[in-house]
Parts: sequence; structure tokens; C-alpha cells
Amino acid sequence: MLKLPRPKGSAAIAPSILSADQLNLGLAVQKAAQGGADWLHIDIMDGHFVPNLSFGPATVACINKATTLAQDVHLMVERPEDFAEPFTKAGASSLTLHIESKGDLKKLMARIKQSGLSTGLSIKPDTAPAEILPYIDLLDLVLVMTVYPGFGGQGFLQNGSAQIAQVRDIIKKSGRRMWLEVDGGINEETAAVAARAGADAFVAGNAVFNAPDIARAIARIRRAAS
Ligand code: DX5
Ligand code: ZN
Repeated sequence: MLKLPRPKGSAAIAPSILSADQLNLGLAVQKAAQGGADWLHIDIMDGHFVPNLSFGPATVACINKATTLAQDVHLMVERPEDFAEPFTKAGASSLTLHIESKGDLKKLMARIKQSGLSTGLSIKPDTAPAEILPYIDLLDLVLVMTVYPGFGGQGFLQNGSAQIAQVRDIIKKSGRRMWLEVDGGINEETAAVAARAGADAFVAGNAVFNAPDIARAIARIRRAAS
């Protein structure tokens, strides 16, 4: 089953609901779906790996009732093994772990794939892209953070392009097909920069949910990214 659908001839755009009005999440999800989002990006924070809290499995379960969009779940948690099962049961499409988190990540990723989900690894801005190499055969997605994780609305870090290009090179050499997703400070301008460096999936929180017209914002990011 295709867990993270690939739009024809285009980049994937994944609005991050972290920037949505949390009292009106249902409306935000509906607007993103109608506005042409390919996936929804769900940021999960535990207050330890990052100094913030966000959503839980119940949110994912509720979103599943409201939309058929794939849920690209980004686990910014210290111990991802504690959360993989609840988010799988809740209906996540994909679980992305941080390479800087604790536990046996290979074993956990294998288990996630066995459950029928896609799995990814994310690297923080100061993590060397080569650290993904031991996991390459398990990956469906690499997520390059272009801000320090924890909060929406930050600016795209300049060294992001170099990291994306290095990850693209590693993927190319592996001969495997996987997404190269970018997350943090993505808007029309930075999506174009990230796309040139090799990204093909684009998370955007602030640039989508704080835009006056969500559909227009998604379309503009898609055009810049394609
Ligand atoms: C930050 C999160 C991002 C965040 C991106 O730690 O991982 O997904 O929502 O928000 P923007 O697009 O506003 O930088
Ligand atoms: Zn994220």
C-alpha cells in the first residue's frame, strides 16, 4: 500500500498542523485537504527531546475520521519506541524518528514497516547526513530539519541546502527510492532553494496556516518546489 502518495510529476506538500488554530483543527484539516495538500504533517513533541508539547495519538485518530489524507507523523521524542505502537493504532501513515533519539532505531523501524507503515529518519541541523547510512535500506523517507526542532514559524537555516544536497547524494548512491523531506521555515522562496538542493517533499506550517488563503499558499509552494 502506498502510505505516502506521490503526486504525479510534482513535489509532495505536507502542511504542518502545528501552526493551525488548535481550537479549530478540524477546519484547518478540511481547508488543507480542499486546498490540495498531499499529506498532513503531524509534529509530536514530548517536552524532553524538544522543549515543547503538541499532539498525541488521539489527535491522529480524530484526524483519520475527518480526512483520507496521509498522516506523516514526525516524532520529536526522546524514546520513540514508547510511541510507535499508539500512533500506528491511531492510523498514522508514516512514522519518522529522530536519529538523535534513544533506543534501537533499526529494530523499531523494522517493526514499523512490518506494521505496514512507511518509516523515516530525521536529522537535526547539526547532525552529519552520513549518519543515516547504516539505516539506508530501511528508509522510506529522510527528513532534513532546516530549523532547530520544537517550534513553528522559525527561519530556514542557511546550511540547510548543503545538508539536503548531501542527503540527496547519499540517496542517489544507494539506488533506493525514498522521499527527501524538508521541514522548517519553508515558504515559496525557501521551497525553491530546498528543491534545487534535492528535496521532493515539503513541510510548511506557518506559510500555509497563517496565510490568508490556504489553497493559494499550497499552490505557490508547490509551484516553487516543482
Ligand atoms: C518544528 C516542526 C515543524 C514545524 C514547521 O519543530 O518539526 O514541522 O511545524 O513549521 P514552519 O513551517 O512554520 O517552520
Ligand atoms: Zn515537523
